[in-house]
Amino acid sequence: MGQTPAPHTSSQLWREARAIANAEELRQALRLRFEVFAPVGIISAAYLSPATRLELDEFDRFSLPFGCFIGTTDHLAGTVRIITRQLQEHASRLIGTILREINDANLRRAYEAPLPGNLLLSECWPYGDLPSEITSDPATCGELSRLAVHPSHRKRGLARLLINQAIGAARQLGLKTLCLACGTWHVTLHERFGFRVIPGSRTASFRGQPSAAMYMRLAE
Ligand SMILES: CC(C)(COP(=O)(O)OP(=O)(O)OC[C@H]1O[C@@H](n2cnc3c(N)ncnc32)[C@H](O)[C@@H]1OP(=O)(O)O)[C@@H](O)C(=O)NCCC(=O)NCCS
Repeated sequence: MGQTPAPHTSSQLWREARAIANAEELRQALRLRFEVFAPVGIISAAYLSPATRLELDEFDRFSLPFGCFIGTTDHLAGTVRIITRQLQEHASRLIGTILREINDANLRRAYEAPLPGNLLLSECWPYGDLPSEITSDPATCGELSRLAVHPSHRKRGLARLLINQAIGAARQLGLKTLCLACGTWHVTLHERFGFRVIPGSRTASFRGQPSAAMYMRLAE
């Protein structure tokens, strides 16, 4: 499912965005999420494990995680997930392996917490005018979430690779719409992939920063 690797040149490292395959790759993604999101204070402390430097929440068991890998190694430089409405057994298994290894009771509690009543855009309040293709068929709407690229690898197109990979996977899964929540400063970024702001939306998770919910239609 991964994209064909570009030829390696000195000016452009080989890079590939693809589904995360094993517990070690997922651990790198959770570490990157910790390092990118913990300092900016937009994620509840309950989801952060300072001892292991991992970030994990109750949505991860419903998510398809992706990584962007660079160089000739298995170094993960970016990540994103699609939250679905179904339990994802592969991700759950990988997380189970990580939790057994790190033995962090707080993170396990966060991961196993009951889901909020509304799985969709749970961090958005109020929802604004949710488009009818979402409200009429919420089971086929996925949520793009936790997009993060390592600071030393930004502005080289890794987020673009990750988002395109996630959109392709969402289509293959049969999802009809994708939504996301972001700070307004990232609206332009997501518009480039076809996301549109849901009128009247704003999110609760950006600590007073202007924010928005967006969506895109995947099916014709
Ligand atoms: C946002 C982030 C993921 C972008 O990663 P990146 O790898 O540097 O982005 P890319 O180089 O792939 O850029 C993708 C496109 O978005 C644009 N873009 C990137 N950052 C942008 C920004 N802050 N505002 C507007 N557009 C932006 C780029 O110009 C590019 O467009 P183009 O391909 O048409 O030139 C990265 O800066 C990051 O991890 N930030 C911290 C975490 C975060 O804020 N995540 C987003 C949560 S919604």
